[in-house]
Amino acid sequence: MIERSRRLRGCPALRGMIRETRVSPKSLILPLFLQEGTNICNEIPSLPGHFHYSPDQAARGVEAALQAGVDKLLLFGLPAEKDACGSQAFAEDGVVQQGIQAIRRQFGREIYLITDVCLCEYTSHGHCGILAGQDVDNDKTLEYLVRTAVSHIAAGADMVAPSDMMDGRVAALRQGLDQAGFQNAPILSYAVKYASSFYGPFRDAAGSAPSFGDRKTYQMDYHNVKEALKEARQDEEQGADLLMVKPALSYLDVIRAVSEQTDLPLAAYSVSGEYAMIKAAAAAGLIDEYGVMCESALSVFRAGASSLVTYYAKELAEAMRKGDIG
Ligand code: PBG
Repeated sequence: MIERSRRLRGCPALRGMIRETRVSPKSLILPLFLQEGTNICNEIPSLPGHFHYSPDQAARGVEAALQAGVDKLLLFGLPAEKDACGSQAFAEDGVVQQGIQAIRRQFGREIYLITDVCLCEYTSHGHCGILAGQDVDNDKTLEYLVRTAVSHIAAGADMVAPSDMMDGRVAALRQGLDQAGFQNAPILSYAVKYASSFYGPFRDAAGSAPSFGDRKTYQMDYHNVKEALKEARQDEEQGADLLMVKPALSYLDVIRAVSEQTDLPLAAYSVSGEYAMIKAAAAAGLIDEYGVMCESALSVFRAGASSLVTYYAKELAEAMRKGDIG
């Protein structure tokens, strides 16, 4: 036998040398949930290991992330009051705006803050935009998204990540941010976001399930991949600085396809349902949580993503530090 593949698998040092995919904690982004109020630090039932923090308690979550080696957060907000146009999304003293300011005061630039820009957590009807009858009015929604993004950066966020899936929102955000003097604030577009059943635990955590209908008139149909390339191209043309595919695990082919088309950095979002499945199967004694976590996260990078939003960010950073992946 001339070729013996096992020669290169003989020991950890050699296997470590020839790894084709390299990952680092620098590529990880941890979601963090801010809830309006004070003195709140409650574990989220649908996302074990994650908490709702009021702005005055957010430092706990930030501290834990930094300790683990994760220095990027994706912020979500749960307002005390919701209304038809989601006005707490862009209120100067909204929960995310307060959270950003509190975190900045304590941690300065040690932590990189990305904000999710969407209205669904703030609207009484739970849809991602302004309603016209039973439908979401695309163009009207844009001005509210712009106000939200500008208010996040004004409060001290580093980057905005629109997740609403309205058409033209990246161009609108770029224009709005520039007009407000925020030319240097990057936009991470959830360019390719599917209407997915994997968002269930998040919607419980964020109280953002639509009160009627679904999100299929704005989020993508999971039968499609050419459409993903079109969405990615459009957002790139509109001025997105980074693109994202979401969810991750059932969309590795999409991540690969988009990564081959674009020159922009590509992120993927391993969503709440992916986390919940691993947690539940591990709790039932069916799989090894650590092993499955490592393997599934690595697959996203192997598919072509260069960064990953994941509820396992802290644990993955530790796995990378130990060299189990990376
Ligand atoms: C807001 C938003 C959602 C998620 C991220 N941003 C929910 C949705 O679109 O319904 C889902 C994240 C997750 O499931 O972890 N639009």
